[in-house]
Amino acid sequence: MRTQVAIIGAGPSGLLLGQLLHKAGVDAVIIERQSAEYVLSRIRAGILEQVTADLLDEAGVGERMHQEGLVHGGFDLLWHNQRNRIDLERLTGGKKVICYGQTEVTRDLMEARQAAGLPSYYSASEVAVHDFDSARPSVSFVHEGVRHTLECDFIAGCDGFHGVCRASVPRAAIREFERVYPFGWLGLLSDTPPVHHELIYINSPRGFALCSQRSLTRSRYYVQVPLSEKVENWSDERFWNELRARLDEPARESLVTGPSLEKSIAPLRSFVTEPLRFGRMFLAGDAGHIVPPTGAKGLNLAASDVKYLSAAFIEYYSEHSEAGLDGYSARCLKRIWRGERFSWWFTQLMHEFPEQGEIHARFQEAELEYLLHSEAGQRTIAENYVGLPLDFGS
Ligand code: APR
Ligand code: PHB
Repeated sequence: MRTQVAIIGAGPSGLLLGQLLHKAGVDAVIIERQSAEYVLSRIRAGILEQVTADLLDEAGVGERMHQEGLVHGGFDLLWHNQRNRIDLERLTGGKKVICYGQTEVTRDLMEARQAAGLPSYYSASEVAVHDFDSARPSVSFVHEGVRHTLECDFIAGCDGFHGVCRASVPRAAIREFERVYPFGWLGLLSDTPPVHHELIYINSPRGFALCSQRSLTRSRYYVQVPLSEKVENWSDERFWNELRARLDEPARESLVTGPSLEKSIAPLRSFVTEPLRFGRMFLAGDAGHIVPPTGAKGLNLAASDVKYLSAAFIEYYSEHSEAGLDGYSARCLKRIWRGERFSWWFTQLMHEFPEQGEIHARFQEAELEYLLHSEAGQRTIAENYVGLPLDFGS
């Protein structure tokens, strides 16, 4: 078997890359460890920056996002029992975000790939990458009991944080930067109308909480919990009570509860790999970096990696130029560190950090007071949340 680009992983990064390459006439094969059903069962954030929405349009998969996605011109920040609306639209000269679940983005991409009859191997085992430091890389894997070798020009490592691509790089060739936060997010999905028409980010004395949504009838809520918590200890009733205790009176009154469709605890991590290129293998999305979910940047950073990577491959095949490939890592990392910084900062601002002592709590108080009473402060939240321009600082 042979292809131009072997894509490892069928999350949003791998599928979007596949679609953009297909549009430009570049051949790719996707190899995924899990089944398609399993990939679609993962619940993740769903706030799309304009840049991400534009890229989904460019890939030809934006139709349902425009029909069903909810356009948000702001969000509420609840602190000291007071709502502060961050008016994204006014503060950023008209920019908004689209609330559309990552699962739906993945579904749209999967369906488009299937409709175009493009090759994908799901439930592949023993996936291994070979010779990416040479001109003839390859990928080996087992599918339905048969061992395959896929020869290719390039390998795109879109295989997430626990993938095989980053793990195959010699340790001396890679630098990793990491912070693990001392708490997680306990999330609950339910078929209940959202408590508010926009998101509410909450800094309460009991810890952070977030009221998010998937549609006008489906809600997603989170509460900060210690890392030692087990999801089994959280009945739906306990979750709703804890969420209620972190809300303000109007939200407490209008909150509609119901049985959970999904409940899980996610740890929070900041992580960056440098570089993102190793010979003929390139990392994109969660394979190269992780952000804590507070700024909703994960999917958006993955999308900008894929934008740069697809452009670099297309330039290589159409113009015989390696400039895009050579610049890929530095170009992505600039944007990634901006997203990492915002996600880390917004996490620090909104969560309880008991182990950092009273002084941290006082700094947080003073910072929130400043930000929420200053136009410049609100704008700094808003312009990062909607996404800084792609070429910012260049
Ligand atoms: N072989 C093949 N596939 C693999 C392997 C492997 N050895 N290891 C992992 N995978 C697959 C995973 O099963 C998963 O489907 O790679 C895929 C990676 O997908 P994601 O983890 O969703 O990562 P990515 O596509 O980069 O999406 C980034 O996901 O976690 C969120 O916040 C993040 O929204 C962002 C988005
Ligand atoms: C979500 O809807 O899951 C979500 C939204 C915004 C975030 C994080 C998660 O910042």
